[in-house]
Amino acid sequence: SNRIMLGPLVAAIDQGTSSTRFLVFNAKTAELLSHHQVEIKQSFPKEGWVEEDPKEILQSVYECMDRTCEKLTQLNIDISNIKAVGVTNQRETTIVWDKDTGEPLYNAIVWLDLRTQSTVERLINKTPGRNKNHLKHKTGLPISTYFSAVKLRWLMDNVEKVHEAVLSHRAMFGTVDSWLIWCLTGGKKGGVHCTDVTNASRTMLFNIHTMDWDPELCKYFDIPMEILPKVRSSSEIYGLMKSGPLTGIPISGCLGDQSAALVGQMCFKDGQAKNTYGTGCFLLKNVGTKPVMSDHGLLTTVAYKLGRDKPACYALEGSVAIAGAVVRWLKDNLGIIQTSTELEQLAADVGTSYGCYFVPAFSGLYAPYWEPSARGIICGLTQFTNRSHLAFAALEAVCFQTREILDAMNQDSGIHLSQLQVDGGMTSNRLLMQLQADILCIPVVKPSMPETTALGAAMAAGAAEGVSVWSLNPEDLTEVTSERFEPQINPEESELRYARWKKAVQRAMNWET
Ligand code: G3P
Repeated sequence: SNRIMLGPLVAAIDQGTSSTRFLVFNAKTAELLSHHQVEIKQSFPKEGWVEEDPKEILQSVYECMDRTCEKLTQLNIDISNIKAVGVTNQRETTIVWDKDTGEPLYNAIVWLDLRTQSTVERLINKTPGRNKNHLKHKTGLPISTYFSAVKLRWLMDNVEKVHEAVLSHRAMFGTVDSWLIWCLTGGKKGGVHCTDVTNASRTMLFNIHTMDWDPELCKYFDIPMEILPKVRSSSEIYGLMKSGPLTGIPISGCLGDQSAALVGQMCFKDGQAKNTYGTGCFLLKNVGTKPVMSDHGLLTTVAYKLGRDKPACYALEGSVAIAGAVVRWLKDNLGIIQTSTELEQLAADVGTSYGCYFVPAFSGLYAPYWEPSARGIICGLTQFTNRSHLAFAALEAVCFQTREILDAMNQDSGIHLSQLQVDGGMTSNRLLMQLQADILCIPVVKPSMPETTALGAAMAAGAAEGVSVWSLNPEDLTEVTSERFEPQINPEESELRYARWKKAVQRAMNWET
């Protein structure tokens, strides 16, 4: 049979909170050739706890690689054209494993997990002036349940096996990128223990100015530095695949998923921004090579560093914990829909929430509030309210939360974004996209190839020194085709609904006190 000649291909592992994907792109045209996706189980062993199984995560990666390679072979595409693999991942999720046995010592504590709420409150109370931004000058982050350091601290204090492994120098800590790269490059037989600057910047142990682990921060959380992975740039060869269908191929790109989406959306210039609708929702704006601190509840984070000798770029980030997760909750917990795609139809049946507001503060509230004690509420119910209104209110919640982030960004910079570039799974929901434009009062622009997170990781992998099959020169980058959603309601109506939303948020705050 005739093999199709395509030139070099680059692949990406996209390990998100809800699912794992493996995707293969043409390095010349950025065309997506084939992919496979597997859903990841989440467990909620106690109220507010969220865990995943690190071995299931690893297995899902192998399964996606195997199936994608099979599909390519069926398409007559030679998998030996794959020249590099990039890794992109759910950030902050914390894993500790034993380097001698290769076994995880506990489940992965997912970023959404609230078990460290009391620790966080205690830490904040101990700071001068009860200041949640006490470590922000170094980390760019508020003290919150969200970041890895407190999760790691919890593991060391509460899991005997972790405690022992740390004492006997067998423990390795990593976010999902580190865990996967270590396993894929050989695991207990010589795996590479590393992370990239973007993932490191989400741990609260990383100094975003010196671009390295910070001894003072490690002392503050009492974390031994020897368990931390080595910090590398987002685009360089970390190691070679030691098993699976791509054995021998370099892993040469690594970015937290939100950073990867920024790269995949080609937001390389100061001021360019994107919003990704995944499990959560994350708006990142490139601020260039100097970190900018927010006065309005946004994070400062490392956007990317595309090569050992390249400068780091920073971003302001507005993080929303619950976006797609509210859809999964309506499906799994309430059972009012059978599949995620049903939600759009259900909401479209009514086209309004009829005054019902739903604040899905399941994991407290993130930006701009950073309030771990907030809890979800649904308000404005009458006997008229039905599941369609609730569905609509859930979609509106995603849009209002994005509006809050965009307002904070505009206030911080004084410059108003004139349109919003979006991506992520939920953007296939056209009703959501229209609602978002209506609530922001600016156009929403969606690329026709929605897998921008994976694309960003593949670009970083393909551009790495020693691989060099993908050019990151702006002139060489393929134009993306996109779809625009223009605001259709008048701004007064939009403001009125947004004002009600803000009232609902106030009721969700400080729920327990
Ligand atoms: O910070 C968490 C974020 O990286 C998770 O992304 O796409 O799994 O919601 P996602």
